[in-house]
Amino acid sequence: MLKKISLLVAAAVVLAGCGGGDGTTSAGTGTGAGDDSIVMGFSQVGAESGWRTANTKSVQESAKSAGVELKFSDAQQKQENQIKALRSFIQQKVDVIAFSPVVESGWDTVLKEAQNAKIPVILTDRAVDSKDTSLYKTFLGSDFVEEGKKAGQWLVEEYKDAKDPVNIVELQGTTGSAPANDRKAGFAEVIGADPKFKIIASQTGDFTRAKGKEVMEAFLKSNPDIDVLYAHNDDMGLGAIEAIEGAGKTPGTDIKIITVDAVKDGMQALADGKINYIVECSPLLGPQLMDLAKKVVKGEQVPPRVVTEETTFTQEQAKQALPSRQY
Ligand code: AHR
Repeated sequence: MLKKISLLVAAAVVLAGCGGGDGTTSAGTGTGAGDDSIVMGFSQVGAESGWRTANTKSVQESAKSAGVELKFSDAQQKQENQIKALRSFIQQKVDVIAFSPVVESGWDTVLKEAQNAKIPVILTDRAVDSKDTSLYKTFLGSDFVEEGKKAGQWLVEEYKDAKDPVNIVELQGTTGSAPANDRKAGFAEVIGADPKFKIIASQTGDFTRAKGKEVMEAFLKSNPDIDVLYAHNDDMGLGAIEAIEGAGKTPGTDIKIITVDAVKDGMQALADGKINYIVECSPLLGPQLMDLAKKVVKGEQVPPRVVTEETTFTQEQAKQALPSRQY
């Protein structure tokens, strides 16, 4: 059901956003909220990485050009903030809820509340592990297991002639998040076929540059013979590069580095030879999200899973792609 949003309600939401509240801010459609405009409540994970910043921009810009009234809430990487935001969207009777769940587990109760209120939910970027898939209409985002496999395949090829053990350290994403779980699993599956590949240390860097640096410093102190770093995103890889340089080693040469995302800073480090390989994870989900939202609000059928198309980059490919990279 489409709803009209009065100026009064919109102003109240903006005030709530300014004063803290559930952290929600409301943005106009830019085309004027007409009678058939739709209202989307969007709960974002946070602003932990360059990827996330690009994703937020894509969602906000696409909402504006699609004439979708967006109530945007930043959860600052905390599940309780996302649950609070989702309940606030339900109370405000938005037409559709979209969210990128910070972790996979613990969503059933609030998703049931949305279902009881007849508000369709779209998962974007990250999955939930709910058994009841009727709690959401569709899941739009990358295949994170596949991304982990691509990282592993590059490594296997790179070391195909090596006879000695290959010591790998892993910087995991946020504990319990779909990309951390899946990128770890996909990578482990591929390298697990050859016992020479050994993950000698694996710890979360929470997808941030600062934590990536901190954890890599600890890895370097306790492991003198690191051959490879596999970081679940560019930002942690970039933080780790600072740690490696600080320890007097050359990133990309003394320690080979594989990351995921392909944001501009990561691609620059790849082109500069400090990263060896990047598996792309596209944050530009906004346009597809708006199309899906319009369809589910109209009650049209949508595919239960929409997988984002992605590629991989070597150092040479990064040099070519950088000038036209959007994010
Ligand atoms: O869920 C996507 C992941 O979240 C990105 O790879 C990472 O950079 C972000 O924080």
